[in-house]
Amino acid sequence: MAPSFSDDYTHFAVKKGHGVKGISELGLKALPKQYIQPLEERIDMTKVLDKESIPVIDMSNLDDPNVADQIANAAEKWGFFQIVNHGVPIEVLEDVKEATRSFFQLPADEKIKFSQENSPTKHVRFGTSFIPKAEKALEWKDYLSLFYVSDEESSTFWPAACKNEAIEFMKKSEFVIKWLLQALMQKLNAENMDSKAPLLMGSKRINLNYYPICPNPELTVGVGRHSDVSTLTFLLQDNIGGLYVRKMETDAWIHVPPISGSIVINVGDALQIMSNGKYKSVEHRVAANGSNNRVSVPIFVNPRPEDIIGPLPEVLRNGEKAMYKQVLYSDYVKHFFRKGHDGKETIDFAKI
Ligand code: OGA
Ligand code: NI
Repeated sequence: MAPSFSDDYTHFAVKKGHGVKGISELGLKALPKQYIQPLEERIDMTKVLDKESIPVIDMSNLDDPNVADQIANAAEKWGFFQIVNHGVPIEVLEDVKEATRSFFQLPADEKIKFSQENSPTKHVRFGTSFIPKAEKALEWKDYLSLFYVSDEESSTFWPAACKNEAIEFMKKSEFVIKWLLQALMQKLNAENMDSKAPLLMGSKRINLNYYPICPNPELTVGVGRHSDVSTLTFLLQDNIGGLYVRKMETDAWIHVPPISGSIVINVGDALQIMSNGKYKSVEHRVAANGSNNRVSVPIFVNPRPEDIIGPLPEVLRNGEKAMYKQVLYSDYVKHFFRKGHDGKETIDFAKI
């Protein structure tokens, strides 16, 4: 039954498992009011620089020392870049986007089985918006969030519509993720990757994001301003576009154009903290779209929940003053999920 009152839309989307995809399919003329964002949170196209773009880095020749330089430079100056010729097969990318569409195509009563209340495991969560309980205005996005523990656990608990494709995407991305982190560590003179790997990439979460067609897209957002809490985020987007990144130290934004076969990489808060601010975890957001459904698939490469993160000893060896304290990573993540999206504020939790 289609809802008739404004409050019923929240119930329909959040509680009944229809998500914003369900609202979208009602074909409403106007956006329900709980999705209307305050003016300052909407995307102001006059603040978008259309002549600038984040770096695109070709990874076809990993023996070229230039590649590592470009990566470290981009992580310092932009916090965001795209990689091409990265070695993850195109079929793997196409398959996981298609699996994302298949999962969201399921009826609401199938998807709701994976909601926070119903999911058989806390490692699998289907939801809509970001934190509906904590948000002043809701966001126009549905998601499935999958925390990886083991192949066995994933194949038991992850939804059948997408589990093989999601696992395959994670597996095939492993090499390039490690290579990127190694390059970034080398430039910090912290090259002992064997000992660093558990801290930098000891846990992974893959999200399948679905941004359905939105009535009045200019009044809301797909995802509000935030920075990621990851070490590094490895994001696959389809050909629709809509991801905007803040140009560092300005109030201007830059669109991340879809490039077929590319992966978008961004530094997360954990790496900003570990590098003592050298690598930047930059604010970003996603626009809602009035004419196309969009999917994206980020892999959040994270420390383990039980890790203590702080500026790496190698970075402070030269006498540099620590800007961040040591924090338990799970506390940091909890802090992020206690509040709505609020730009770069999460990192204050770790500031000295
Ligand atoms: C995120 C995010 C961007 C996108 O999930 O943290 O920023 O393009 N996603 O979906
Ligand atoms: Ni993000």
